[in-house]
Amino acid sequence: MSKSGEVWAVLLAAGSGTRLAQAVGGVKKQFLSWKGFPLFWHSALTFSKTPAIKGIVFVFPPDQVEEMRETVAGLDGSDSLGLPWRVTAGGARRQDSVFNGLNELPSRCTHVLVHDSARPFASAAMVTEIVEMLQDGTEAVVPAVEVTDTVKEVDGDVVRKTLVRSRLKAVQTPQGFSLPVLYAAHRQAEEEGWDVTDDASMVEMAGREVRICPGEEGNVKITNPEDLKRIEDETRTLPCVGWGYDVHRYGEGRPMVLGGVPIPGGPQVIAHSDGDVLLHALSDAILGLFGGGDIGFHFPDTSAECENMSSGIILKEVMAKAEEAGVEIVHVDLTVIAQIPKLAPHRELIRKNVASVMGLDRSQVNVKATTEEKLGFTGEKKGIKAVAAVTGVKTFSRS
Ligand code: CTP
Ligand code: MG
Repeated sequence: MSKSGEVWAVLLAAGSGTRLAQAVGGVKKQFLSWKGFPLFWHSALTFSKTPAIKGIVFVFPPDQVEEMRETVAGLDGSDSLGLPWRVTAGGARRQDSVFNGLNELPSRCTHVLVHDSARPFASAAMVTEIVEMLQDGTEAVVPAVEVTDTVKEVDGDVVRKTLVRSRLKAVQTPQGFSLPVLYAAHRQAEEEGWDVTDDASMVEMAGREVRICPGEEGNVKITNPEDLKRIEDETRTLPCVGWGYDVHRYGEGRPMVLGGVPIPGGPQVIAHSDGDVLLHALSDAILGLFGGGDIGFHFPDTSAECENMSSGIILKEVMAKAEEAGVEIVHVDLTVIAQIPKLAPHRELIRKNVASVMGLDRSQVNVKATTEEKLGFTGEKKGIKAVAAVTGVKTFSRS
């Protein structure tokens, strides 16, 4: 290979993904999102990690070329490829898409790797090995793996022939070529009406030698619905716990409300909002689940907006924040500490109300009440306190 020539990649993303379309709501597989990027971008990143690759031609469906040019520019802007790139429109068959891609290569390009964007797991090490074989003078290189099944040639449901497995290989992409050799094979294919499923077969039919290099078992082509599990974003869940505490002083102010339930005959409480000490402790505990700060920060008592604010609204807002943070609340344990009033008669109602406001089953909510044996400010009937422990599960993406 001439030292001045460049190796480029043609990345095929112009298919219609018909075998997968139904399972993914019609999205073309090369545009499915995986680890935060469209599938085709993962192969582009692999090429960018191989210093010998000097540029990429993306081949997209004809009606999406302009849209995808912007998408690639955006991805390159945030996650730079560090390579020049071009886009072009594909054709009806895979081989037509490849030919269009070859026509987009710059004249300084002497070698090309043709790759299916439906194979996002190809490694940079394999790309490097293919490039090295080309640099050593091999005209055509395909990665190949052992065939584990016995392969038979059939006619309808009748077996015609059994092929000798020890002489068979399954081949993958990227396939590497001397550009003039591949280009000439494509011209000949067009003239003579060949219909093939990979580029190497054209080069073979043109009478040139194709060599194999070790392929990778993991370099599968996303083709059928069962392959989708390979590109599911892996997630893991972790338990999390939040704890909350609040105190309100008794005195002329607002009628007592606990867990959204009015407590008739209870002492009045002095408070900026509606004075529901239990829902305040609960809301703080929910913020604690995901590092969300405290309610004093989100709903300051210096703010006129929070004056009279229903604690039910505060609770709903902190629950929405928890959901945004990917946390699902699974259990709530609440304790009210007060000398007066007697809370046992209200316990079930509070439990039912909290469960209903939070969209939980009653078995996921516990309400307890205790006195402090006449000790401290609750014992002296100067005020009331509440504590809450909330358990949740947080889902993380592994990518
Ligand atoms: N491809 C292409 N142009 C075509 C056909 C296929 O660029 N006219 C690309 C696909 O986008 C894919 C690769 O070639 O990355 C391998 O093709 P295949 O797995 O068959 O994909 P599709 O043709 O899209 O899928 P299907 O055959 O299920 O319709
Ligand atoms: Mg196809």
